[in-house]
Amino acid sequence: MNYIQAVKNTALRLQNAGIEGVATESELILSELAGCSRAELFLHPDRQVLRETAEALEKIVRRREKREPLQYILGYAWFMKLKLLVTPAVLIPRPETELLVERLIKTAPPGGTVLDLGTGSGAIALALAHERGDLRITGVDVSSEALRVAAANREKYGLDHVELLQSDLFSGLRGRRFDCIAANLPYVSAKEYSELMPEVRNFEPELALTAPEDGLLLICDCIKAAPAHLLPGGTIIFETGITQGRKIGAALNDVGKFKNIEIIPDYSRRDRFVAAKLK
Ligand SMILES: C[S@@+](CC[C@H](N)C(=O)[O-])C[C@H]1O[C@@H](n2cnc3c(N)ncnc32)[C@H](O)[C@@H]1O
Repeated sequence: MNYIQAVKNTALRLQNAGIEGVATESELILSELAGCSRAELFLHPDRQVLRETAEALEKIVRRREKREPLQYILGYAWFMKLKLLVTPAVLIPRPETELLVERLIKTAPPGGTVLDLGTGSGAIALALAHERGDLRITGVDVSSEALRVAAANREKYGLDHVELLQSDLFSGLRGRRFDCIAANLPYVSAKEYSELMPEVRNFEPELALTAPEDGLLLICDCIKAAPAHLLPGGTIIFETGITQGRKIGAALNDVGKFKNIEIIPDYSRRDRFVAAKLK
């Protein structure tokens, strides 16, 4: 079997398992196993797949046919410029979250402090630290298993100055205030959760995805507690579900302590973030 036959066979099997975007994914798997770029696969279409590579490919395809996310199978996910370790203890970082980091890169004050609330793999905290070495960044998560993954990623990139703490929302941060708080907390409702793709529902941690009260409980608790953890004029930014922007904007308004409340779309023009400043 040559590279191109292997790519085609893999794509067919993944398609039969109900997976979308199989061409790119099959090329990715092959290039990963062959240790070359996707383009190189096509530069050497007749190159034969080694027996060990074929065996490794078979194992990956069998797991993927059961709809296990490729990132958990390979053990990593790209987020901005970082190749992050991911395990089933953490959410696979999503491309739209990169917009949140880009905004923080542009707006966090020089030498300022940033809190990443619900850090998971450390994606937001570490990608920001990688771009803005002047910031003092803290990542917190309620999950000790997630924090172990974040710590491994911190070590991988030598970002030792990023602080990682176990904390249920702000419980471990008494008396501490930040210039910016970035919160990608769970926001999926129970109904939406039951309708998610098998990759998400059956493999990603429920703790990272769902929250009671139509997905809004943790974000609303965070809004109530946040004024005590922001410096005057400090910014809070939430990643949200695409139908939640107005409700979260209203919750920020109701607290009476925030100004400049802004609903921000993602690249697909869907409401995805809500930002506000402490008065
Ligand atoms: C949507 S994931 C975001 C992970 C990561 N920040 C990212 O963007 O890829 C939400 C994270 O919040 C954490 N979490 C859930 N409830 C929490 C709580 N009460 N306090 C702190 N973190 C919490 C989960 O363990 C999970 O890692």
